[in-house]
Amino acid sequence: MHKRLLIPGPTEVSAGMLHEQTRFLIGHRAKEFTELYTGIIEKLNKFFQLPDSQKTTVTTSSGTLWFDIVGRSIVKEKALACTNGAFSERFGKAVQACGKKVDFLDVEWGKAVKPGMIAEKLDSGEYDTLTICHNETSTGVRNPIYEIGKMMRKDYPDVMLAIDSISGMVGDKLLPSEIGCDVIYASTQKCFALPPGLAVGIVSDRALERAREIPNRGMYTNLVRIFDYYERKHQTPFTPNISLLYALDKRMDLLLEETPEGVYQRHKVMAEYTRKWARKHFALFAEPGYESVTVTCIKNTLGKSVKELNEKLAERHFMISNGYGKLAEKTFRVGHMGEWNLAGIKEVLWHIDEIWGL
Ligand SMILES: Cc1ncc(COP(=O)(O)O)c(C=O)c1O
Repeated sequence: MHKRLLIPGPTEVSAGMLHEQTRFLIGHRAKEFTELYTGIIEKLNKFFQLPDSQKTTVTTSSGTLWFDIVGRSIVKEKALACTNGAFSERFGKAVQACGKKVDFLDVEWGKAVKPGMIAEKLDSGEYDTLTICHNETSTGVRNPIYEIGKMMRKDYPDVMLAIDSISGMVGDKLLPSEIGCDVIYASTQKCFALPPGLAVGIVSDRALERAREIPNRGMYTNLVRIFDYYERKHQTPFTPNISLLYALDKRMDLLLEETPEGVYQRHKVMAEYTRKWARKHFALFAEPGYESVTVTCIKNTLGKSVKELNEKLAERHFMISNGYGKLAEKTFRVGHMGEWNLAGIKEVLWHIDEIWGL
């Protein structure tokens, strides 16, 4: 019995999109592959309106590979890791696991990281990289990355800005040139509404120059190798998930047809409806003004059993998400991303009303 996924990843993928993956394989060193892959890169560049100084790649990996890419290829000696949830904490720990020094700027879960908090730390001049999560999936908080990016480009131009937008990209409004980021990435099982297995990364020329100066970049995590290979051959350095690339190619056609603004507005409308529902019956976990547009984290103020709710929702072919880790049962989350639209969100919230008698 299929449950339609309103968890914040993997999200629901339509049968048509799943079917895209069943095409016959092609060789990854063949001309057909070059055409497929360069086409995808061009579509991504167009969607994100990238200038020549920012470049896109697609890795065959989940998004976490990019924690290691940042740790291996971007951080020179010491990073400042902004944390306000489980994933931003993991990002900082991954950089440490790559052998680099990390200080943590810990912000209370549910609150946003603000430019002033970062400035206080960066003023010491100790850091060469800042890591931050755009959309903290564990808490439903959207950090103000445009303001942070603007401040960093003006006041700390030598510090690289690395952003995890794993659950934000192609749901939230994302213009890397306006943010002024050096690395930003996402996995395909979130707003791209594809199976897990690919990650899209956008990297600045500055970041690539930095990477060239850093020793021990590893193999799969070597950003220079990835982009040099593309420059020379217009292919990926290692065998990619070709089947999933077929589906990404199709997804980019659909996203371009909807337009970046259309995609953002659809997510915004779903988020606003979910927040209104949550405020009526419960309360929001995210600090006001910093709520995610792709996942709403709701404080379980009525002490309902989220586990039981999901069991009942399963009978109605839906699945939402419990709170993450220590937030389980204290919060629950509705992922409104990818292929979902307002009608679908209204439907699942109606079922929750019915089950819980709200
Ligand atoms: C914000 C954020 N970062 C990182 C991850 C890990 O991504 P992946 O499972 O694609 O490696 C997730 C997954 O939920 C996430 O939401």
